[in-house]
Amino acid sequence: MIKFENQKFHLSNEYFSYVIEISRGKHLLHRYWGRPLREFRDSAPLQAIDRANAGQLAEFENERTYSLDVLPQEYPVQGHTDFRIPAYRVEHENGTNISELNYSSYKIIDGKPALKGLPASFGDNCQTLEIELVDICKNFTVYLYYTIFDDSPILTRSAKFVNTGGKKIKIRHAASAAVDFNENDFDIIDLYGGHAAERTVQRHKLQRGIFEVSSTRGASSHQHSPFIALARPDATEFFGEVYAASFVYSGSFAIKIEAEQFGTTRLVVGLNPDTFSWLLEPNEEFQTPEVVLNFSANGLNGMSQSFHKFFREHLMRGKFKDQVRPILINNWEATYFDFNEEKIIALADCAKELGLELVVLDDGWFGKRNDDNSSLGDWFVNREKLPNGIEGLVNAVHERGLKFGIWVEPEMVNVDSDLYHAHPDWILHVPDYKPSFSRHQLVLDLSRADVREYVLDAMRKVFSSAPIDYVKWDYNRHMTEAFSAKLPPERQLETQHRVILGLYEIMEKLVNEFPDILFESCSGGGGRFDAGFLYYMPQTWTSDDSDAVCRLSIQTGTGMAFPIVAQGAHVSVVPNHQVGRVTTFQMRNFVAMCGTYGFELDITRFTAEEKDEVKKYVELYKEIRPTMQLGKFTRLLTAYNNGNEYAWQFEDENRIVVVYFRVLSQPATPIRILKLAGLNPDREYHLKKYFPPKKMSVDGGKQVINFQEKSFYGDELMNNGLAVEKIDGDFAAYMWVFEK
Ligand code: GLA
Repeated sequence: MIKFENQKFHLSNEYFSYVIEISRGKHLLHRYWGRPLREFRDSAPLQAIDRANAGQLAEFENERTYSLDVLPQEYPVQGHTDFRIPAYRVEHENGTNISELNYSSYKIIDGKPALKGLPASFGDNCQTLEIELVDICKNFTVYLYYTIFDDSPILTRSAKFVNTGGKKIKIRHAASAAVDFNENDFDIIDLYGGHAAERTVQRHKLQRGIFEVSSTRGASSHQHSPFIALARPDATEFFGEVYAASFVYSGSFAIKIEAEQFGTTRLVVGLNPDTFSWLLEPNEEFQTPEVVLNFSANGLNGMSQSFHKFFREHLMRGKFKDQVRPILINNWEATYFDFNEEKIIALADCAKELGLELVVLDDGWFGKRNDDNSSLGDWFVNREKLPNGIEGLVNAVHERGLKFGIWVEPEMVNVDSDLYHAHPDWILHVPDYKPSFSRHQLVLDLSRADVREYVLDAMRKVFSSAPIDYVKWDYNRHMTEAFSAKLPPERQLETQHRVILGLYEIMEKLVNEFPDILFESCSGGGGRFDAGFLYYMPQTWTSDDSDAVCRLSIQTGTGMAFPIVAQGAHVSVVPNHQVGRVTTFQMRNFVAMCGTYGFELDITRFTAEEKDEVKKYVELYKEIRPTMQLGKFTRLLTAYNNGNEYAWQFEDENRIVVVYFRVLSQPATPIRILKLAGLNPDREYHLKKYFPPKKMSVDGGKQVINFQEKSFYGDELMNNGLAVEKIDGDFAAYMWVFEK
């Protein structure tokens, strides 16, 4: 997979090629990334690309035909005639930040070395290229890592800095990867959002200038997802080339794209330099987090499918990663803080009757927490609410044949808590400045070993207090005043990253010590849906917005980059608590089935008719769950279409499930044909079940088609397609289940 010839590294497999060249100036140049090439013989030589002789302030070492301001590079610095956005910046003891990295040596390693203290992908079927670059003044060395897998269009990258000189250096910026393209005709696709509105797909033309998606919040954030795609303008869901990146990190990040004067494009992905710096003493090293690069020759669906497969096979860990996930009932929207043992047991009784599998006790079971003003940090049970403790409740739930889960928010503290009174300096803060509150809470300083020890110990006690099956790990605010009472002045800007490293250290220990607990991460909904978290926790609560219509957009955006099995999705009450909308029961259930299906409402209030319906859905879901959660996912309609219609296909070796949602009914309803994708044309697919929406208006359309028990060849389903019959009414949800 990795060859070195004529000063060029050629990384290739059946999905892509990536070529790096050592230049005559000993700089590491980027030569190619895209469809696989059998050989790279340099059909577009650098002499034809370089523009230095046009009289730019761009000559390097008196060579007017060698300009770093236009040559495509692998890990560029600013200041040596390259004025584009840099991949790194190192400050020397004398205050300057000039450096120059020259190629020194390389190693090809079978497999992939772990990244110490960081989440990262792994596998046996891969090779890693390590390239050593040395600063010409010998102040430091940078190692670039590239790993190629034989079963994937993914290339992972990271960088390691080692202080090899005798003096201190300060890393001001250390990207995980930079990629230069000798062209700029791209669309950018990014996922923007806010709390309860995460990961909305946005597609726009790359314009001259610098475009950035980033977070300074100490979380990957609701606002910008650590994901980017550069798509050819003609790329669609099914066709065309897409270059994408996903950052394996859960804190502040920056993805920058510069489209500059000569028509080149530079992509830089890494830690956010605005909230980062790192002092490196002689002989110390600093490892950046990993970035996952993904080339798709099969449009956006190809990109998403590769991310899903790669994350499931090469990033997610633990015994649950390939298992179907339990159907849960979470009491949050059912009771909020107002619950007691009796109410939770009543939910458990009803859950049992409906066929659900896991009861999750959310916020409010500890300290004296009856609202969000107090008790974060005091992880001992509130006996007024739960007189028999967690253990009593777990036993009661287990006796009913159900699993039990619990909510925690370990990284936080309320001022009104025993913990804060004992350790007011354990929070992120700056002396003399008031800390900023959010949801009445403050962020614990996990860069400190004593704080980490407390959190670890508290969680160990909770998780071993009873046979707990599932944990929801929340994080309900972002970092402000991210400074630490323990760090010296010259290290204060390390705090945010050190807190994330501290969190990773805690999670690594806990997931190993409690391998039988299924962990779901959460951050005020989906504020930390990132590849970093997936390494520790195989699912994430996608959003606090449980409205089925909003979820169509949120789950579409999330599915661009992250696997379906990782997306928590629950049925909630109407009018919906976040947006007040009343949607149909069928739509709420079908949308939730397109993630890890669960319920988040007072199920004891279901009418007899609703109970019968839920039982039917739960039974259906148990049958199709492997396909929905672990199958191949395809968007049949464009992710960013009119916002009124969504169609998704799920496929595994046994069946195909197709869902179609129409938000609002319209007059003169356009015909909608769904052409299925990726089927075997010669194979027969047997339509076992078809669920049209229930007739919703008095004189509206009615079901006319009886597809039941019909079989179709794959060629017909792909080319002639499935017609969506016209049934009037808003919030329409359809489902087709084909057995192979
Ligand atoms: C966050 C989560 C919710 C719920 C509450 C509890 O907002 O996203 O699901 O757990 O916290 O306070």
